[in-house]
Amino acid sequence: MAYYAFRKACNYKAHPNLTKFEAWVKKQSISLSHLFPDQKKQDAIHLDLSVSSLWIENEAAFNDLTYFQYKIERLQEAHPNKIIAGGYLEPRPLYTSEDYDIPSDQGPISRCVHLGVDFWLPSKTPVHALLDGTVVMALDRKGEKEYGGFVILEHCFGNDSFYTLYGHLDPASIAARKVGDALKKDALIGKLGSKENNGNWAPHLHFQILLDLLDYTEDFPGVQTYQSQELWADLCPDPNQMFQLKSLKPQIKGAQKDLLDYRKKHLGKSLSIQYQEPLHIVRGHGAYLIDQNGQKYLDTVNNVAHVGHEHPRVVKAGQQQMSVLNTNTRYLHSNLNKAAKALIDTLPKGLEVVHFVNSGSEANELALRMAYTLTGSKEVIASEHGYHGNTNTTIGVSSYKFNGKGGQGQPENTHLIPMPDAFRGNYRGENTGSLYAQEVQKAIASIHEQGKTLGGFIIEPIISCGGQVPLPKDFLSLAYQAVRAAGGLCISDEVQTGCGRMGTHFWGFELYGVIPDIVTIGKPLGNGHPVAAVVCTQEVAQKFANGMEFFNTFGGNPVSCAIASETLSVIKEEKLQKNAKQVGRYLIQALKDLQKDFPIIKDVRGHGLFVGIELLSDQQTPLAAEAEYLANRMKDLGILMSTDGPDHNVLKIKPPMVFSFEQAKRLLYCLRKVLQEDFLNVLKTF
Ligand SMILES: Cc1ncc(COP(=O)(O)O)c(C=O)c1O
Repeated sequence: MAYYAFRKACNYKAHPNLTKFEAWVKKQSISLSHLFPDQKKQDAIHLDLSVSSLWIENEAAFNDLTYFQYKIERLQEAHPNKIIAGGYLEPRPLYTSEDYDIPSDQGPISRCVHLGVDFWLPSKTPVHALLDGTVVMALDRKGEKEYGGFVILEHCFGNDSFYTLYGHLDPASIAARKVGDALKKDALIGKLGSKENNGNWAPHLHFQILLDLLDYTEDFPGVQTYQSQELWADLCPDPNQMFQLKSLKPQIKGAQKDLLDYRKKHLGKSLSIQYQEPLHIVRGHGAYLIDQNGQKYLDTVNNVAHVGHEHPRVVKAGQQQMSVLNTNTRYLHSNLNKAAKALIDTLPKGLEVVHFVNSGSEANELALRMAYTLTGSKEVIASEHGYHGNTNTTIGVSSYKFNGKGGQGQPENTHLIPMPDAFRGNYRGENTGSLYAQEVQKAIASIHEQGKTLGGFIIEPIISCGGQVPLPKDFLSLAYQAVRAAGGLCISDEVQTGCGRMGTHFWGFELYGVIPDIVTIGKPLGNGHPVAAVVCTQEVAQKFANGMEFFNTFGGNPVSCAIASETLSVIKEEKLQKNAKQVGRYLIQALKDLQKDFPIIKDVRGHGLFVGIELLSDQQTPLAAEAEYLANRMKDLGILMSTDGPDHNVLKIKPPMVFSFEQAKRLLYCLRKVLQEDFLNVLKTF
């Protein structure tokens, strides 16, 4: 392997015979009917089992081997004259067992790239020799259920030799095969094993070409890591070079660049893309995202995939309802009531009327419209660095946007208070809640001075875009008192913080012992599906219904409601709020411990699984480049993080709520590793 690896590193083909072999094999007349003469089929139908394949569906589906076999049978019925085949250099998500992992200094990496072609055929299908050959390995591996028996034949070409490997055979059919047996072209090698011989996978032949047996005597790898795939591809060339089946499509190279180029030209120019080297994510599972090469990334930033990426129960709820009915709320439907009830059950008494919408922006838009309708005033108080959505009105109350790049400045009706940040804000330290609440009072006074009245006050319980900033003690209760005394409505934007993420509480506002008039809920509610909600009191709902119909084409449709109900049930049944509390507490404490060793970490803050790490120099300069470097290096180690805050110097952690202790430990291990790197010096050299 060292010899081949050095050759590859020097830009040679890893195996010196590869080019010669490829020229030779092209001239042979070999077809599928030589391999499987009793099938009498000349062509194949390509089965894509790669990580991007929709055919395999999610992990729950592809691990249901009875269902997998059923689908293979249906595919065969649909293509009776073809052999189902595929797999060369396919990065497959199927190998979820740890047996396929190999250790690396970034944690385990999966051997997921398939080096042969699989032919999906019935058990006992006879498999014949394609060329004259000699048996060099034949193992029936009786009792080793996972793989079945296999045979490797050696063949000559010119003065050299190569090998063909036949895996997942019926052990009994090869019991008599011995090393040294000579087999003529077309001779029977053995028969395909049953699913019992093959870990319950539908019967198939794994066929692979090898230019070298290396040191293997009892096995030969059929899968390798993505990182070593180019080297292995030179040792195990494409078996389809023998059959030249046009239907077996090679993996597309360069697809990522095409995606990026098209996107740059034809999709909104102000869309951003994460990471210096963008990721092409094709699959999600639990707290992991998986790219097109089968590389797994631990996702520590996605609080939308609240109960885990593509949670099978949530997916199923959506799929089932989608297949039966999806329509608007002008008809009665139990899903609508059920989702509303599930939400109301999580909220304090009084918050009991639900309006379903499609996004966090739309929820805040509606909440603000309610405040305008009820109070007759459009004057709104919001925090500096807050973000509440992408519509005209919500951008108008989002200083993160209107005071940011390309922003149009503060609208006349918006009244900002300084961000209530007890760490680095205008007032610092404990007991600053009342000082920030006085800022709310000042804003009210200024509205009154202009001869206007207050409409509402909108704020997040932990200001996410502001850099994961929790509100100081007493601030919210004093601010709500002042707002209510001035006739305004209090809106709690729970788009990021809601649905159990805080750990100790289901909703962020509960951290501060207050009850808002209106709660807006977005991201987590649909676990990735666009469903959001505005929940308010009977009084607010009554007064808002002033005669103008609230019609929303998609809001509250039966599919979205099925998904929202199921997400809320999963949170409850899988005790994810408790998980957020326990793992979050551990994580925050461990990050504080890390802070002792790495003084650029100046603050660790948050609740549950909603955490921020602020990086500052000893002179209190925000370290944005360092934060970005850390996020990019963590990606190299397979961990996704992102940065935020007005100075872009806060690393934020808000993973799916299934984030485990083990995953938290891996995050901490990698963070320590990157923090130990001499990255401050690396940055200087840029
Ligand atoms: C606090 C907060 N409110 C509202 C929104 C807007 O939600 P959406 O993107 O679903 O429109 C966001 C989105 O990031 C948010 O973070």
